[in-house]
Amino acid sequence: MRLQDKVAIITGGGSGMGRTAALIFAGHGAKVVVAEFSEAAGRETVDLVEAAGGTASFVRADVSSEVDAKSMVDHAISTYGRLDVLYNNAGIMPEADHSVIDTDVAVWDQVMAVNVRGIFLGCKYAIPHMAEQGSGSIINIASFVALVGCSVPQDAYTASKGALLALTRSLAVQFGPKGIRTNAICPGPIETPMLMDWLLKDEAAKQLRLARNPTGRFGKPEEIVNMAVYLASDESRFTNGAQLVVDGGISVNYF
Ligand SMILES: NC(=O)c1ccc[n+]([C@@H]2O[C@H](COP(=O)([O-])OP(=O)(O)OC[C@H]3O[C@@H](n4cnc5c(N)ncnc54)[C@H](O)[C@@H]3O)[C@@H](O)[C@H]2O)c1
Repeated sequence: MRLQDKVAIITGGGSGMGRTAALIFAGHGAKVVVAEFSEAAGRETVDLVEAAGGTASFVRADVSSEVDAKSMVDHAISTYGRLDVLYNNAGIMPEADHSVIDTDVAVWDQVMAVNVRGIFLGCKYAIPHMAEQGSGSIINIASFVALVGCSVPQDAYTASKGALLALTRSLAVQFGPKGIRTNAICPGPIETPMLMDWLLKDEAAKQLRLARNPTGRFGKPEEIVNMAVYLASDESRFTNGAQLVVDGGISVNYF
């Protein structure tokens, strides 16, 4: 029970790594707030957590909306009385996001609204509660594409994840003195609906990614969530401002 009684908001908890995180966090004793854009998916995650004997509740939230971000944090405080972990997992990777030379402004803005503004807003409302408690852990999910260039571009997504890393460092320095640690995880390609739905339609892109990874496979959601459990727990009390790469070695592969 590495997270006993910790209250954790997990954004995008209705699918992929967010759903796995809700299940694993609750399994370690956390009280989980599943904050999710899709009500059906979020409620299904809560049902799965409860069926496994854990504690969770649902709040509908579009992380890019300031009203929703505030109500997500208010929900955690009114339901469980405190907030220990903000797990900024929600993110989007639209198919229409390509190179800067052929990406519409609307697509760029949509990606930035969810992937960057969403993190800003969650932090804006969570940090004052954490500061009052004198403790908290913010976990920002970036990507290995924030660290390396990609010849099959998704430039809005890449830029959004790079922005997260810079914001992580700034928050770590600002709020570390108040007992709030802020860290980022850079996952490699992981077997979730986000990636698999896309690669299903593009076998060449799938094989390219598999060939570049020294492990020869995609990661499993729990292989990222295991790192997040460490960051959410007190085991990581001296880890602040880090960008932890969990990618099977794809980002250090020269040839
Ligand atoms: N899958 C990968 O290979 C991979 C690699 C690196 C980083 N990531 C990042 O990991 C995170 C989780 O990705 P995943 O693969 O589990 O994705 P996913 O698409 O399976 O799940 C994302 C969830 O976020 C929700 N969501 C989307 N927009 C939202 C919004 N505005 N407000 C609230 N919820 C919203 C979706 O409804 C969905 O339930 C994302 O930030 C993604 O960019 C994924």
